[in-house]
Amino acid sequence: MASQGAPAVHPAVQTSKSFTPRIFSGIQPSGGLTLGNYLGALRRFVEKQEEGIETIYCLVDLHAITVWQDPERLRHQTREAAAAFIAAGIDPARSILFNQSQVTGHAELAWILNCVARIGWMYRMTQFKDKTAGKNAENSSLGLLAYPSLMAADILLYHATHVPVGEDQKQHLELARDIAAKFNHDYGEEFFPITEPVIEGAGTRVMSLRDGAKKMSKSDPSDQSRINLTDDADTIARKIRKAVTDPAPLPESVEGLKDRAEARNLVNIYAGLAATTPEAVIAEFAGAQFGSFKPKLAELAVSVLAPISTEMNRLMRDPAEIDRLLGEGAGRADAIAAPILDRTKDIVGFIRSRRG
Ligand code: AMP
Ligand code: TRP
Repeated sequence: MASQGAPAVHPAVQTSKSFTPRIFSGIQPSGGLTLGNYLGALRRFVEKQEEGIETIYCLVDLHAITVWQDPERLRHQTREAAAAFIAAGIDPARSILFNQSQVTGHAELAWILNCVARIGWMYRMTQFKDKTAGKNAENSSLGLLAYPSLMAADILLYHATHVPVGEDQKQHLELARDIAAKFNHDYGEEFFPITEPVIEGAGTRVMSLRDGAKKMSKSDPSDQSRINLTDDADTIARKIRKAVTDPAPLPESVEGLKDRAEARNLVNIYAGLAATTPEAVIAEFAGAQFGSFKPKLAELAVSVLAPISTEMNRLMRDPAEIDRLLGEGAGRADAIAAPILDRTKDIVGFIRSRRG
């Protein structure tokens, strides 16, 4: 349901039609991917692929340019993100993997949805508020404000029913539901699905290693705050050893982590990497000092991440092959998107005489 303060979902169009299950998610190639992306998103993406549901994963370069990106870096980071997906277990033959700008339907549907969504809905987004905090919001790009409407277009262009994301994207997904519902209501047809967010597991909100109140982010100025998927074993171990913690040992139960953001974060990271629960981690390490817990965590992190970065390095040696795979993925994505976009145009009342 819509969050507090967000517009209400029109109940009449919310549930009655059933759509074939289809997963869509995206990651911005606006920097190197982090452990947060891995635990909150990438790992979930692989699980969904293994469940045999149709999975579509997108490197959202149109979203990335809502803040300035150096063109060569953007191209490099897009390839590197593609390599990270494949190295983490996304099989480009089973999942569709592509970069957003190659499927023009994203931008086209985003425009239509810009005319459905309300400006006030955009101003309410906490991510927009965070990204403009302390700056002149009037001087941010118009794209940054409209960003959630493009995100709704990404999802709705494929009639995706489920969207795996980290906790920070919840509000954007609620907005996507509201936009879909308003479109359906305004045009009197239950055309777009009301998408379900999939936010699950211990790693849905990985925090900075320097500040337990801040999310781990590829755009944090401090490299010490995050583990990058490209970090080598020594760097990973050093960052974990230096992670900010309090002096107390690990508690006897997860409730004891309530007011200890940094300790809770390291326990959650351990649980995410070991694919277990924070309860199980506490059961194993209750009473342990960080001096003994951190080396165990570093060892686990290296064992999970080192094979991924090795494989990424291998894939990055052949950028032409990555580009070829992305192009192939874009072709398959477009084949799903085109009839949905055509139908949207018919519903809206556009003349369409060149295709279909
Ligand atoms: P972004 O890097 O903002 O494009 O995010 C891509 C995906 O990774 C989204 O599903 C985010 O929710 C997820 N994500 C990003 N940072 C984190 C984090 N620190 N913890 C958990 N998930 C995250
Ligand atoms: N906004 C998302 C993020 O920064 C990325 C994204 C763009 C996305 N389009 C999407 C995620 C569609 C899920 C579905 O994390």
